[in-house]
Amino acid sequence: MMRMSENEDSDNIAVKQFTFEEKRKDELRTRITVSVPEVLDPQYGMYVWPCAVVLAQYVWMHRAELEGKTLLEVGAGVSLPGVLAARCGAQVTLSDSAELPHCLDNCRRTCQVNQLSVPVVGITWGQVSSSLLLLPTLDIVLGSDVFYEPEVECTDPGDVRLVVN
Ligand SMILES: C[S@@+](CC[C@H](N)C(=O)[O-])C[C@H]1O[C@@H](n2cnc3c(N)ncnc32)[C@H](O)[C@@H]1O
Repeated sequence: MMRMSENEDSDNIAVKQFTFEEKRKDELRTRITVSVPEVLDPQYGMYVWPCAVVLAQYVWMHRAELEGKTLLEVGAGVSLPGVLAARCGAQVTLSDSAELPHCLDNCRRTCQVNQLSVPVVGITWGQVSSSLLLLPTLDIVLGSDVFYEPEVECTDPGDVRLVVN
């Protein structure tokens, strides 16, 4: 189950909270809340896109398989799925385009409000860079709403092969 709430943090940032919860028959509950500061700006990567919510629910459903796995989120923006995966025990690296520093700032801000310390790196699809080559061996690559523009050469299978060693 997932619940969402929202509160205004400053002039242009509103913090949304996503709560992932399992109520078991024995009345014990497992619950994780991820806070996501969204920038009130229509550009890509500034707020949680619909696919990120679906992917985060998928991550939550598969959380038992994440412990200790190395995971990269590409085009992470405000990073809901990646941060949830980190909270579930994965060793996460968050990434967004090296050419969009404000999106990398969004990744960092979400980590900060969740008191999480994970690497945030600039990885631009289709570009071989030191950040890409220095990634650890990856078990999982996550990406939500990264096929949004036909002209963007986004995460084609070649890119994914480059990051999954
Ligand atoms: C539609 S947004 C989705 C953001 C986030 N994954 C979500 O679902 O909320 C697309 C993301 O891809 C990133 N992006 C766009 N072009 C990129 C590129 N060439 N390389 C890497 N990331 C890119 C944007 O900065 C943005 O964060």
